[in-house]
Amino acid sequence: MTTFASALAVCTALLTSAAAFAQDKLPNVTILATGGTIAGTGATSTTTVGYTAAKVGVERLIEAVPELKKVANVKGEQVFQIASENMTNEHWLTLAKRVNTLLAQPDVDGIVITHGTDTIEETAYFLNLTVKSTKPVVIVGAMRPSTAISADGPINLYNAVTLAGSKDAVGKGVLVSLNDQINAGRDVTKANTSTADTFRTPELGFLGYMQDNKPHFYRQVIRKHTAETEFDISKLDSLPQVDIVYGYANNNRIALDAFVKAGAKGIIHAGVGDGSLSNAMKPGLVEARKAGVLIVRSSRVGNGIVARNGEANDDELDFVVSDTLNPQKARILLMLALTKTTDSKAIQKLFYTY
Ligand code: DGL
Repeated sequence: MTTFASALAVCTALLTSAAAFAQDKLPNVTILATGGTIAGTGATSTTTVGYTAAKVGVERLIEAVPELKKVANVKGEQVFQIASENMTNEHWLTLAKRVNTLLAQPDVDGIVITHGTDTIEETAYFLNLTVKSTKPVVIVGAMRPSTAISADGPINLYNAVTLAGSKDAVGKGVLVSLNDQINAGRDVTKANTSTADTFRTPELGFLGYMQDNKPHFYRQVIRKHTAETEFDISKLDSLPQVDIVYGYANNNRIALDAFVKAGAKGIIHAGVGDGSLSNAMKPGLVEARKAGVLIVRSSRVGNGIVARNGEANDDELDFVVSDTLNPQKARILLMLALTKTTDSKAIQKLFYTY
């Protein structure tokens, strides 16, 4: 072999091993795909409503963003393929168990979950309460289908994988990242029916931003989450039935009575204002409590603390208040609380802890 050829061979070998070394240095991130718009397809490139969610598989989502290889060693699993309005307690239990199994593996550094945006905030809070690891778990979605002009899925997925592989995201709880922003799973909510900036943490604010291929954090959640959680779903196949009744002018107790008759173990009352109870609704809640149903006063307002003994004498009625959790998140915490206790004082403590 000539000197040049042997030099070329040596250089090639060195470059190959350098590339392999660099790839080995990248974090290992598993993408768990569940469906939603990020996997959606529309009839035309300008179809941004009226498209079909949950059509594109996880491998296709990964192939569509070759840049992922620069930031992580990525593997994909199709856990479900559903529009997220169809997410159920059983889906959550399956997902949480898979997340915990993967995060217990030393060769998994972080997880990304692709998800429909309609119930991202609920799945994020459920996992915030059931993931038993400090490793990053990032939930991501899109507001435009994969076939649309300026589809936001690819950049959201790239940012989510970058975030899930970042040491800065360790111990921050479950994160929701779309639109270059980083939100906490506990406090984030979908605030607009259709715009790309829909995920907000209205008063408590974002945790930070995704910019220039890395996360920039400015605050963190102080409520307990993930590795600190006392909830263990590893042996659960179902969750107690908890339903939500909505407060509004001229409301009634018909739906409440139906939920209780159907066997609800807990009721979240999404009251007007500071969780106020109308004269039409209150007797039904009092009767339900006396029958052993846990009652949580939440608010339809969406921000602020529902104060204990404010709009109702919770001590006397033996009700619980939701603190700052919106009704759909209060339902999640009450379901998990009821897997451990039916003591209202212990449950109130959980609402002030998580
Ligand atoms: N069907 C809705 C869902 O799967 C579409 C919304 C979205 O994913 O952005 O949540």
